[in-house]
Amino acid sequence: MTATRNIQNIALIGFMGTGKSTIGRQVAEHLRFTFLDTDELIVAAAGKPVTEIFAQQGEAAFREMEHKCIQSLESRTQAVIATGGGVPVNPANLASLKTHALVVCLWASPEKIWENVRGQTHRPLVNVPDPKEKIRVLLAEREPFYRQADVLVNTGLRSQKEIAQQVITQFRLARNAR
Ligand code: S3P
Repeated sequence: MTATRNIQNIALIGFMGTGKSTIGRQVAEHLRFTFLDTDELIVAAAGKPVTEIFAQQGEAAFREMEHKCIQSLESRTQAVIATGGGVPVNPANLASLKTHALVVCLWASPEKIWENVRGQTHRPLVNVPDPKEKIRVLLAEREPFYRQADVLVNTGLRSQKEIAQQVITQFRLARNAR
């Protein structure tokens, strides 16, 4: 059974390095919505960076914090929410987001993702000996979850401005369809 939907917000899901935060900020500015980033909220609540949460408490503890964070957003309105790449892997997270947000997935190829994340150190899952292979494997594993978004936007063929515009158009269509 599908829970009733009351689309007030936009949630951006997708793999690391697909531009969720950058596009999210642009969309929020355009709509005059609040921009929220689940990683930033978790880091603020935990008082330490994601890498430290993973290293000291483990990934399971991070996923628990992430789930609590997602649930805490259910009463939000007029927000653009950029989510961590692992959020939709927990079906309860996606179900929660869908009650109040249009869920848009930003999609990119493993090559493009590698280009975007290489040289960065704040993502524990790609701080591994063979990050390119890790991206390929993790992206393939997660694809079925990302495909459950309401809208899938292929970022490879478009400018940031075009991607942001597409997200806004889809949001307006979804709101008017109510
Ligand atoms: C993760 C993605 C990261 C962050 C954490 C785990 C993932 O967020 O939540 O490092 O599992 O893909 P971004 O997608 O914003 O990089």
